[in-house]
Amino acid sequence: MKITEAAKVLHTTPRTIRFYEEKELVRPRKGENDYRYYGEADLWKLQTILALREVGMSTGQIKGALEGEVDREAYLNLQRSALYEEWLQIKDMITTIDEMLSKQKETTLTTEDIFTLAHQLKVTKQMRKSWEDQWNFNEQAKKYDQSIKTTGYRFNVHEHYQEALGKVSELIKAAPEEWGVDIGTGTGNLAAKFIENGANIIGVDQSEEMLKVCSQKYPEMDLRHGHFLSLPVMDHQADFVVSSYALHHIPDQEKELALAEMNRVLMESGRIAIADLMFENEEEKVRVLSRYEQEGNQEAIEAIQDEYYADRSKLIDWFETQGYNVKAFQLNAILHVLYAEKGNA
Ligand SMILES: C[S@@+](CC[C@H](N)C(=O)[O-])C[C@H]1O[C@@H](n2cnc3c(N)ncnc32)[C@H](O)[C@@H]1O
Repeated sequence: MKITEAAKVLHTTPRTIRFYEEKELVRPRKGENDYRYYGEADLWKLQTILALREVGMSTGQIKGALEGEVDREAYLNLQRSALYEEWLQIKDMITTIDEMLSKQKETTLTTEDIFTLAHQLKVTKQMRKSWEDQWNFNEQAKKYDQSIKTTGYRFNVHEHYQEALGKVSELIKAAPEEWGVDIGTGTGNLAAKFIENGANIIGVDQSEEMLKVCSQKYPEMDLRHGHFLSLPVMDHQADFVVSSYALHHIPDQEKELALAEMNRVLMESGRIAIADLMFENEEEKVRVLSRYEQEGNQEAIEAIQDEYYADRSKLIDWFETQGYNVKAFQLNAILHVLYAEKGNA
């Protein structure tokens, strides 16, 4: 169909469509007299672009998200994650207004409260929108399973990888038919441990290509495009939440929001287990880095500084403040497993 018809179907304007064409997000076939013709695939793509723009993704980010061969299922998956993000934003706004109203009822609402609450809302929104893959996981997807078997020259982040995944599974003790969410599922290596036991897994990842590899390996998984700060899962749906080798990709100031998202999707008596690169606390980080410095191990220092290894004590504090009982295990200088279960579990 021609541009005017396409615009009508998509409830947008020809001008908007032309803009995305100029940005090379969509490339319709050119026909007689240079008219552009939009086929079914172009319409799916445009609909996805419009949904992603609606939730504030920049055209650059959309271009990144749509790179490579994207099929109809992947478009729907992207649109769903965009809608979840929008839904979470609206929920946050309602919660903020509720807080203001309750203070107003108690006649304690000050101008400063309004400013603080509105500011918190803005910060959360910005965090959710600012997620960007700095490591190009799409590019890594096909080689990922091979790469975890190879070691670095003088620094091997995958040392004790299998043990860490095994520990997560052992701690969670999933019963058949339970539902779990695996965040940053990648090629599904952690999820596989639960599938083996008959549990159902929702695998969340921000990388289209990782999701593709994962669905080839484990077609039974429910794979969802999304990210730590905006999980594409309804409230209190999961019996357990797990994650391995993924949390260190989000900055420290965003980690609490990531934990809050895990807590949101978890049932009342749920469990959480995280295997990741982290340090026991800030002092330990300083000690480990200075040891690498003394050994002249630049590879290790650069690798650590390129990512956001957590301060384990801060994660534990957060969980305990929310009423979780926490256990922590250290597998090597940089690899830890955290297990948190709600107080009454
Ligand atoms: C190193 S891989 C780990 C994959 C798998 N969990 C494992 O243990 O083998 C990191 C994965 O986390 C995903 N990831 C990174 N940051 C993420 C985020 N903010 N939200 C969701 N997934 C993320 C990447 O796309 C990638 O698939």
